Amino acid sequence: MKTFPALLLAATLSALCTACKKTPPVSSADTPRGGGPAGKVFTLGMSQCNLGEPWRVQMNADLKAAADQHPNLRVIFKDAQNDTLKQRAHVEEFVSAKVDLLIISPKEAAPLTEPVARAMAAGIPVIVLDRRLLGTNYTCFIGADNKKIGRAAGEWIKQTLGGKGRVVELKGLMTSTPGQDRHAGFREGIAGSQIEVIFEADMKWLEPEARKEMESALARFPQIDLVYAHNDPGAHGAWLAARAAGREKQIKFVGIDALPQEGVAYVRQGILDATFEYPTGGAEAIATALKILQGERVPQEITLGSRLFTRDNVDRGGQPLP
Ligand code: FRU
Repeated sequence: MKTFPALLLAATLSALCTACKKTPPVSSADTPRGGGPAGKVFTLGMSQCNLGEPWRVQMNADLKAAADQHPNLRVIFKDAQNDTLKQRAHVEEFVSAKVDLLIISPKEAAPLTEPVARAMAAGIPVIVLDRRLLGTNYTCFIGADNKKIGRAAGEWIKQTLGGKGRVVELKGLMTSTPGQDRHAGFREGIAGSQIEVIFEADMKWLEPEARKEMESALARFPQIDLVYAHNDPGAHGAWLAARAAGREKQIKFVGIDALPQEGVAYVRQGILDATFEYPTGGAEAIATALKILQGERVPQEITLGSRLFTRDNVDRGGQPLP
């Protein structure tokens, strides 16, 4: 009778040790990447450029919700708080920690290109989300086509204004690729019309900056027909400035992102006239990460779709861009 507890303890310990061997708690660097044994836990590093805007909070939430479906994935999130140097340091930390895969949504293209190249050289697969780097030294880029969205915005604006009017363009950070592409696409979309861009400024994706720039535009121009902002926070900032000047009813406002709780809600409230969806790609990034870690081949570019929301179609869930 006395030996029973000792036997039980020994059996329990041995069972526990077997379990330990089968499922290591975190990834070990000596397990080959891209095809680890069943039960291996993979560590993903996620370098987010900032969490100051609702869209990026949503991106992290989408990543987390998708990763939570897979007990073999562990995601470490780092927020660079809109500081490029901090984001470079975060990438370096993930490389030193030998994460199994890196996901990055870079603040700016040029300064983040080299740290990502070093991760690739260290054998860490990299998924680039939403904003691009210079060149193509990464495993997979996931994002919507910003040039196409900008062009669609230009065409919608051309049609809505009847081919002529005075427009303010509030640009996203022009050292980031969505800002460059939403600008270039828009100019293509309005080409050949009599639409005049009377004021343009880089509001760096930030609502307070957009509001400030719009105050300058309002002070200089007695007639403004429409504001095209590269994101919904920018369009909302411009609307706030116009409302403070008592001019919001004479101006149309167009943005990009179309989060249900942000841009789409603004369209319903009559604040914005249109917004274009910019999907976060969070779920797609996790699905792609799993494939890479299991040794499957993935395309180097995954292009996500977009939808246009206007006052006419918002109740029907918007309409996809062709
Ligand atoms: C958030 C954000 C979005 C925009 C995206 C572009 O930081 O500014 O509003 O669509 O980044 O990268």
